[in-house]
This record gives sequence, structure tokens and C-alpha cells, in this order.
Amino acid sequence: MYYIGVDLGTSSVKLLLMDEKGEIKNIVSKEYPLYFPKTGWSEQKPEDWWSRTKEGIRELVSVVDPANVAGISFGGQMHGLVILDKEDNVLRPAILWNDGRTQAECDYLNKEIGREKISAYTANMALTGFTAPKLLWVKKNEPEIFAKIEKIMLPKDYLAYKLSGVHCTDVSDASGMLLFDVKNKRWSKEMMEIVGVKESQLAKIFESYEVVGTLLPDVAAELGLPETVKVIAGAGDNAAGAVGTGTLEHGMCSVSLGTSGTVFIATDEFAVDDANAMHSFAHANGKYHFLGCMLSAASSNKWWMDDIIGTKDYAAEQKGITEIGKNHVYYLPYLMGERTPHNNPNARGCFVGLSMDTKREDMTLAVMEGVTYALRDALEIARSFGVEITRVRAIGGGAKSPLWCRVLANIMNVKVDRINCEEGPGYGAAILAAVGCGEFASVEEAASKLIRVVDTIEQEPAVVAEYEKRYAIFRSIYPALVPVFDEIAANE
Ligand code: XUL
Repeated sequence: MYYIGVDLGTSSVKLLLMDEKGEIKNIVSKEYPLYFPKTGWSEQKPEDWWSRTKEGIRELVSVVDPANVAGISFGGQMHGLVILDKEDNVLRPAILWNDGRTQAECDYLNKEIGREKISAYTANMALTGFTAPKLLWVKKNEPEIFAKIEKIMLPKDYLAYKLSGVHCTDVSDASGMLLFDVKNKRWSKEMMEIVGVKESQLAKIFESYEVVGTLLPDVAAELGLPETVKVIAGAGDNAAGAVGTGTLEHGMCSVSLGTSGTVFIATDEFAVDDANAMHSFAHANGKYHFLGCMLSAASSNKWWMDDIIGTKDYAAEQKGITEIGKNHVYYLPYLMGERTPHNNPNARGCFVGLSMDTKREDMTLAVMEGVTYALRDALEIARSFGVEITRVRAIGGGAKSPLWCRVLANIMNVKVDRINCEEGPGYGAAILAAVGCGEFASVEEAASKLIRVVDTIEQEPAVVAEYEKRYAIFRSIYPALVPVFDEIAANE
């Protein structure tokens, strides 16, 4: 049998076809536009996700007999607000995870209602990327739209709804809405009241590996798939990526160098840190995890390569860089503001330390280093509450670069394990589909059968020592610039 994993990303939807042995039969990717209507705002059209996903599925299954496709599941960009009216029309473009417009709403939740209360209800504090502050923003700024909301959903759940007709979500993605009681895995009555939404507007909650329904007959016909294909709830892209890398056991850590950069730590039990410095979310295997998220990881590199240098050949651009740990140029990756650890939508990107002898390679390396230092900030929070992290599994576009993995191992002082499949969320989603269809007894069983480490990049002690000094310098740059960032924002 075949299983489809859909990774609904920010730059594209990546679709993966896997057989019951975990072998990948086909991969298809379809891009769609990202809109920045104002500085710090970020939107996409759910209709684009749906049309590109349909095209992708048709192409994906063209290499096999579609009659043998058994299930489909998802890993999706988290937190995005998708709202539909009673005729199922999309009411406005989705407001995405990296959109920073909701600072006033977050201040209301964290300061007026109080962070401790919000954390007691949801296990998290209000952050501009999360979904509940976006609903408050729509309520205040677009009241006529807010009044028409019939269904509230997350990006990947829009695809599940179009495919199956079921208004569903899963525990890992719901965790990032700030409307979900993560510990008890149910909608928070207090948060619904604070935001002004009803439970009937929210989705039915599933574990990530549970079946939500089957394909709607007309959709099945359009896609050339049997109506018996099961739709499985799926997970937020980080939890799906953790399934795809086998990051399931308590204390295991994966690092994603995707559009966002994340540090993901699996935990057996529910836990929340006092300061809400890391997100406390449900995992896709029925357990929990901690997450730290920076907003512009591989997207910093993409911006630098595509928009500034003007090349698509990233490998060629990195080829000349052989020495690491000596760079005098620093890069702050805050192109969309920053979430972990600064929670500051006004933060901005910059290069510091340029001199007449600075070369293009130094700046290219600085971009990778700056993103990795920023990710280390999240790792250090986890280390500060006693989690020992000595090795990580790396995923995301950036992890395909051997140079970036070397930088990661040395800046974080960890071993970086590369696994047999680098497709992270897409592979994780296909595994969830296979588990939902009964191919494996559990997510753990599937991962232990399908995922193995193929290569480990070790840290180099002399380089680690150099980076240790430079990380201290990196950490001193942001606080020095906060007043400048505020001044820039005030004059926008
Ligand atoms: C996680 C987060 C991002 C998005 C990116 O909290 O906001 O990783 O899920 O797709």
C-alpha cells in the first residue's frame, strides 16, 4: 500500500509518496506566493494551498497504481489563522506564524489578563505568531469579518477539511493556538471566553495518528484516488518532522533549519517552564514536547542568496568556505522580528563587523552562523532547565548543506546525526498516515522500523572554543540594538 505525506510549508507544499516498507516512491513540490502587505505582516491564500496540493497529489501518484493508495496525512506550518463563513468561503487571507501584527493583543493577554493565567489555561504565553491573538486582531480591526466566522482552522486542517469534509485538528497543532489546554488536550473554556469564540467554531480534536474520515467522493474523483483513502489528522510541521526523524524518546532533540528554525525536545510527560521561555506543546505520538522557534532560519539564507547575491546555486556559493570559527562578521537573523528568545516583533536583521577586507564568503558564512547562534539561544534555555543535549537530528532545507551541519555541530557543541530520510515533516506525515491505516501498531514502532542514523558530524574542539567566544559577542549585539529597533519601528 502507499501513503501520502503532505508538508504544507511557507514557501511550497512538498508531497511525498511512501510504501509500506518506508521506501519513498515519489516527491513533488509546488510553490505558492507569500504576501507581506506591511512590514512584519505575512499572509497566504488558503485557496493557493488547496489548488497546488491537488496538482501535487495528481502528479505524485502518477508513478504508481492509485488504487493502492491507502492514506494521506499532513505536517503543516503551525499557528496560521484560516477562517471560513457559513458557505465555507475563506473570509480573508490566512495570517501566518511569522506575522508580527499582534503585539497589542499579546500585551493585553500577557499583561492585562496576565501571563500566569494564560499559561495556566494553555501551558504557553501569548506570542505574536500564535492564533488566539490573531483572532483578537481580526475582532478589533475587521469586525465585519469576525462576525461572519463559522469555522476557525489551522493551515493543514484546511486541506483535511477540503479532502474529507471534517472540521478537524490534531493535538500538536492545536497546542500552538493559545486556545487549547495542552495538558488535558481539550479546548480551554477560559480562552474561548477571553477571545470571544464558541467551541462550535473550533475543530474536533484528534491525536495525530487518528483517522478523521475518508475522501469526499467528488474530491476522490478529481484526484483519481479511491474514495476509501483514509484522511489522518497529521501534526504541526515540527511534530511531524520529529516523527520523520524518530525524535520520540524522552530527551531526544531535533533541530530544523527550515523557513523557521526550531529546537524540538521530546518529553514523556507534560511540563511547562516557569517563564514560558519555550513552548510547551503536545507531540504527535500521544506525548509532549518543548519547542523553541526562531522566525528566519533557512529563509535568511534564501533571502541572502536569492534576493541579495542573486543566485540559486547555494552549494557553489558555499564551496569557497573551508575555515569556520574565525569569522569577524556577525549577522542578526531577525528579518521578521524574533520569537524565541526575544519575543520582539520590532527586531530586525543586520550585519555587524564589516571591514574593507570582508569578502562575500564571510557574509555568506555569517548568515549561517547568525541563524545557528540564534538557534543556540533556544538550546541554552532548554539546557538551563537541566535538559542535557549532546546530539541532535537535523532536518529542513539548511540541513542538506554539509557546511551548515558542521557549523551547527560546532556552535551548539553537539553531534549532528543525519538520518536515512531528510524529508522531515513530509516523511513524518506519511508515517502518521501508515500508523492511522494500521500498517504499524504505533508511531514508535514505525519509527524504529523505518528510521536509522546514517552519518554523524562530530564537533571539532578547537572550532568549538572559537565559536564559544564568538557566541558571547553575538549575544551582546541584540540588547545593544533594541533601542534602535524600537526607533526604526516608531518611524515606519
Ligand atoms: C513553530 C512555528 C514554525 C512554523 C513554520 O512554532 O511557528 O516552525 O510551524 O512552519
